[in-house]
Amino acid sequence: NKVVLAYSGGLDTSIILKWLQTTYGCEVVTFTADLGQGEELGPARDKALLLGIKPENIFIEDVREEFVRDYVFPMFRANAQYEGLYLLGTSIARPLIAKKQIEIAERVGADAVAHGATGKGNDQVRFELGYYALKPDITIIAPWREWDLTSRTKLIEFAEQNQIPIAKDKRGEAPFSVDANLLHASSEGKVLEDPSVEVPDYVYSRTIDPEKAPDTPTVITIDFEKGDPVAIDGVKMSPATLLAKLNELGRANGIGRLDLVENRFVGMKSRGMYETPGGTILYFAHRGIESITLDRGAAHLKDELMPKYAELVYNGFWFSPEREMLQALIDKSQEAVTGRVTLKLYKGSAWVIGRESPYSLYDQELVTFEEGAVAYDHRDAAGFIRLNALRLRTLGARKRKLGV
Ligand code: ARG
Ligand code: SIN
Repeated sequence: NKVVLAYSGGLDTSIILKWLQTTYGCEVVTFTADLGQGEELGPARDKALLLGIKPENIFIEDVREEFVRDYVFPMFRANAQYEGLYLLGTSIARPLIAKKQIEIAERVGADAVAHGATGKGNDQVRFELGYYALKPDITIIAPWREWDLTSRTKLIEFAEQNQIPIAKDKRGEAPFSVDANLLHASSEGKVLEDPSVEVPDYVYSRTIDPEKAPDTPTVITIDFEKGDPVAIDGVKMSPATLLAKLNELGRANGIGRLDLVENRFVGMKSRGMYETPGGTILYFAHRGIESITLDRGAAHLKDELMPKYAELVYNGFWFSPEREMLQALIDKSQEAVTGRVTLKLYKGSAWVIGRESPYSLYDQELVTFEEGAVAYDHRDAAGFIRLNALRLRTLGARKRKLGV
């Protein structure tokens, strides 16, 4: 029978490919996605062919638009940040890869899927929860949890015995592990493992050093429609094109670097470095347009639910009823989140300097310190405060009696 492997074309997934053929004796079908990781996909096809995969068993798909439109943007409507900082760039890509693998499995009549995540991380959980949600009877093969290729030397030996080409720079131990897509690049492991030691310069790939960024700020506008960005500087763009453009702007200004120690779902802490240039700009821009278009009650409820939403995405529960319920609530809140935000990008920071919307709730007439609106009578505030103070006055009197 057949197994659909999430195949990057790199050394590790090529070893997995061979291992599946030799250990399980099954027909391997490869799926390679262009998620905007910035690598050519041609070589992945060539390598799969070289490793004996039949042309009809090689699936390569550009999923960038789908990724940004149906995964990244819905998540950004929530302003999701895991543990207050992480914009979930790796987490959000896994459900899409899982979905594509299952679609291919159905198409080619495969009963198993395989991935290259280790047995220690979050990604195994995200892939596999996705597979199970979409095809409950699927068989899952996670080679890293099964094989005895437990060291670099053993992996290289296996590759050599099986005629897997090894790039010269791949013979030694990789200095750290990378996962990249249009939203971010994440680096973990090896040189990053000691959280007391600063991330070396050579780990950064998506941003210039903010200290070396231009001395003059860049000013841009982003237009939103119902919570999603649709144009930069008035130029309409598709979701993936827009995010790529924000990445360029972010890169040039050193925006979106994050050095983080986080709690993995499996229970351990890990230290990683993330670069999310475009996503960081988008995060502030979206909060900017929400600041004038969302009612306080809606905004505060959304902010209360955000950590829950972020945790669901982080833990791999994208295809769960609770994530979908929260999404429906968040999407409902975005009906009037339409308008234009102006931002300044400068030496590692992005901040909002202007916002406007045809549906703005901001009422200058109401808020002005000048003589203003009839809708607001200063004298009403006295009763408002007195009633809110009622409990506090009662408690204050008791405190005095207790002497505490
Ligand atoms: N810790 C991040 C997450 O769980 C990234 C994991 C993948 N990154 C990597 N460099 N292998 O979402
Ligand atoms: C992995 O273990 O494969 C990468 C890290 C993670 O999934 O958290």
